[in-house]
Amino acid sequence: MNRWTDVNGIYQIYPRSFMDTDGNGSGDISGIVDKLDYIKGGEGSLGIDAIWLSPFYTSPMVDNGYDISDYCGVDPLFGTLDDFKRLLDEAHRRQIRVMIDFVPNHTSDRHPWFEASASSRDNNHRDWYIWRDGKTDGSAPNNWLSVAGGSAWQYDEKSNQYYLHSFLKEQPDLNWDNLEVRAAMKAVVDFWLSMGVDGLRADAIRWMAKDRSFVDKLSNPNYRDGQEDPYHSQIHHHHGSADQLRTYLGGIAATVEDYDDRIMIFEDYPDFSVVTPQERYRPYLELYDINPRVAMPFNFGGMFMPFQATSFRDFIETVHSYLQDSRIPVYCLGNHDQSRLVSRFGQEQARLIAMLQLTLPGLPVMYYGDELGMSDGHITEEFIQDSFEKNNPGVGIGRDPERTPMQWSHDVSAGFSKGAPWLPVPIELRGVTVADQQADRTSFLALYQNILSLRSKSSTLRRGVYETCGTNNEHVFSYRLSDKEHVFTIVLNFSDQTTQCQVGEPNPDIIAATSQPVSLIDENTVSLRPYQGIVIARRISTNS
Ligand code: GLC
Repeated sequence: MNRWTDVNGIYQIYPRSFMDTDGNGSGDISGIVDKLDYIKGGEGSLGIDAIWLSPFYTSPMVDNGYDISDYCGVDPLFGTLDDFKRLLDEAHRRQIRVMIDFVPNHTSDRHPWFEASASSRDNNHRDWYIWRDGKTDGSAPNNWLSVAGGSAWQYDEKSNQYYLHSFLKEQPDLNWDNLEVRAAMKAVVDFWLSMGVDGLRADAIRWMAKDRSFVDKLSNPNYRDGQEDPYHSQIHHHHGSADQLRTYLGGIAATVEDYDDRIMIFEDYPDFSVVTPQERYRPYLELYDINPRVAMPFNFGGMFMPFQATSFRDFIETVHSYLQDSRIPVYCLGNHDQSRLVSRFGQEQARLIAMLQLTLPGLPVMYYGDELGMSDGHITEEFIQDSFEKNNPGVGIGRDPERTPMQWSHDVSAGFSKGAPWLPVPIELRGVTVADQQADRTSFLALYQNILSLRSKSSTLRRGVYETCGTNNEHVFSYRLSDKEHVFTIVLNFSDQTTQCQVGEPNPDIIAATSQPVSLIDENTVSLRPYQGIVIARRISTNS
């Protein structure tokens, strides 16, 4: 099996929406096993080397599994621990690595640790969570808001104290200053890694580090009331002190490092009211005393970029300016919490974004269904599942639209389930199914397959040295990846106009394009159609 440094990319599976084998309308682990050949198999497969599974652990499912009541158990909705072991074996047999979600910031309120903690003020688990007295008037200890809407404090009548929940009230925050908590979480990591799991995606880590003074947060002067997520009405710079994160995460990373060739990827978003992406990610790459081959952040900087050549160029250049050889950038442009690529950027634009993502060095992370160009689902009121939406209707924080079932075929429920799917499948599939796209050489899927196959074959694309290329056109972003043997030049037209551009490669050998045809004007100049991107390959002669 490829080592992590050679993996061509990671494919995120949201288990509830991938494939249902028992007809209950929710995807399950056996469904993922059934579809492994699609992920990496023969003809027609996507051809990707690793999967990341969002939580499948025992959970009351108030936050779709991110509220965990047993870190080492599998929820019956998804199957059994034996099913998971079978998935691991079958994936490894196909040379697919398996990364799982690790949710360190909070448990479910139904986790036995919390039930014990809540049982009385002097229970020996009390300090595993964050309990505080209210103010003298009985109101919450401070003004902190929950990401899921409303106050971050929940009053507990029994003990006349409040507990902190950075997300839903059913997700109480653990106290990472408590050494027993750290030991218990280390045991969780050991449980899965010793079973053979290849990596962890660490959820919501910023919230692990609380400002220990618990002072009120400041209001955000740039907040547009009624137009954005109420959480952004405050400035959250009290969260995530570097020292605390280093202590908590360094400990987990050290455990990951005890195993051969495993990694951990941290989820942490830039908060544009406080920090830029580079300010956010630099500490992980430079300051934290963590082996950068073992633990690294997702880079979400591109997720919120305007669709402009100059914005993407500046973003990628900045990332590469602070990356050193041993650092692995993990570009992630879509996931289960964000509107889908096609809905954010547009159909053709999303193809260009796919080419960009899959031709940058490092580990690209893709979200299931983006390889088909799936768009956000239309969720009518009776279908709403996400508690974020239920708590705060209409402000745009619901995440059901990007979690709709994978579209496999034109069978009932797009081939996802024989039962009623937990989220709706579009009535018109419009060619956005695996079956349609496997039969079409111009499809979204074919583009992903093509570039992933190039990426598998070429270490230059996975690990080459990045360099921005000058173009004579501000709508075109072009860059080069090279090593001693190959040079790949990528040229991306971000405009909705046909545009000419010098590519700096005489008589270019164009090995991939987001659309056809590609027109050569003369030996140095290409004419690119709207949103067209190309990859040019050159072998460096060994005789010179
Ligand atoms: C992360 C997850 C999100 C979840 C939250 C709380 O941001 O990606 O889906 O709701 O953490 O665990």
